[in-house]
Amino acid sequence: MEKLRIKGGEPLKGTVTVSGSKNASLPIMAAAILAEGKSVLRGVPALRDVKTMGALLADMGARFSFEGSRAETDTSGLKNPVALYELVKTMRASVLVLGPLAARYGRAKVSLPGGCAIGARPINMHLAGLEKMGASVELEDGYVLLKAKRLKGASIYFDVPTVTGTENLMMAAALAKGVTVLENAAREPEILDLANALASMGAKIEGAGGSLIEIEGVDELRPYNHDVIPDRIEAATFAVGAAITGGDILMKNVLPEHLDAVSIKLRETGAQVKKTSNGLKVQGSGRPESVNITTMPYPGFPTDVQAQFMALMCIARGASTINETVFENRFMHASELQRMGAEIELQGGIATVKGVPALKGAEVMATDLRASASLVLAALAAKGESVVHRIYHLDRGYEHMEKKLLALGADVQRIS
Ligand code: EPU
Repeated sequence: MEKLRIKGGEPLKGTVTVSGSKNASLPIMAAAILAEGKSVLRGVPALRDVKTMGALLADMGARFSFEGSRAETDTSGLKNPVALYELVKTMRASVLVLGPLAARYGRAKVSLPGGCAIGARPINMHLAGLEKMGASVELEDGYVLLKAKRLKGASIYFDVPTVTGTENLMMAAALAKGVTVLENAAREPEILDLANALASMGAKIEGAGGSLIEIEGVDELRPYNHDVIPDRIEAATFAVGAAITGGDILMKNVLPEHLDAVSIKLRETGAQVKKTSNGLKVQGSGRPESVNITTMPYPGFPTDVQAQFMALMCIARGASTINETVFENRFMHASELQRMGAEIELQGGIATVKGVPALKGAEVMATDLRASASLVLAALAAKGESVVHRIYHLDRGYEHMEKKLLALGADVQRIS
């Protein structure tokens, strides 16, 4: 299994180009199912999750190819609306094929994604929404078996804003008969990007990016040709990297407005975050001040940056509280950070981090995607050498992470 060996202490300096968004690419790739023919998505990051989604589409009979950052999906041969456990178990986002399959094929067999490291993560709201649109849903042997005639528009309220749930139902509604209203919808920028891709296919969607989305179903959609938005979580990770190492970086290919909550909190720690004509500049300055955060659905502070921010708070002056409200078990990086000398106390969904002057290099194990990013950041700032094990988690969501870090002056090496 591959690992990263990192010698800490080098400030990140220079320019880094952020990749396209993983969490926007995955639903838009699934949206190709909604139309017959060849859809093209550009700016797609070369990541394991993208390959898994491609494999899933190919397994159903579509022709999928990926070159450079261009993903091409030709759905002409898609005949088998089945997503098998073998593929789904490696990526929860596989569930995003459910809505499009229900809408276009009226049937689907999709493995339940099950729990995962960061929490139970049920899909009850996805299924309840599809049932409201007229689908019959049964659970059998770990699979969702879905049958529907043409889906019909419905009024759907989400108890909790769900990102992939909103995306699944928006895609299903695009081909349903009549109008669907999604209330308390998630507002993440990735949802707006999907809505834009769907609009280019001929879908009629209003309000995406807000909490009330109205979709008027159409009879047919055409394939898309779309450029995906930049990855705001990757950008946030590099921004924290600059702050934690006392570095100075310019990030290109970012949409600064997607990073508002993170930028505000970084500034409170003493870092400088400035929009420039060609990107976002982040400069760390000495030991960070402690800052409290509470994760919330967008536009709140993203749960996907909580682990990275915790790494920063480990070396802050004073104590900070980190309140994780989105996922119930997303603190697994805490015990690994403690191995590096961090002082963290956990109580339910709240972590209290007492900053220490410096972390020490150690062997640590990544448990999930963002936890692994947090360990890499901690290692970059730590005194001495660290080895981060199980970086396959990192490879699920960060394109060429160690190459980008190397180019910014970090002392990092991938070893097997
Ligand atoms: N939830 C339910 N029932 C449902 C759906 C969700 O109870 O039917 C709960 C979840 O358990 C959670 C909350 O609702 O407590 C919000 O979860 P959400 O459904 O929004 O998460 P998701 O759609 O499964 C996406 C991202 C995650 C990101 C979350 C939150 C993708 C492919 N995944 O997951 O990304 O953490 O939204 O922003 O878009 C990552 O990239 O590392 C990652 C985990």
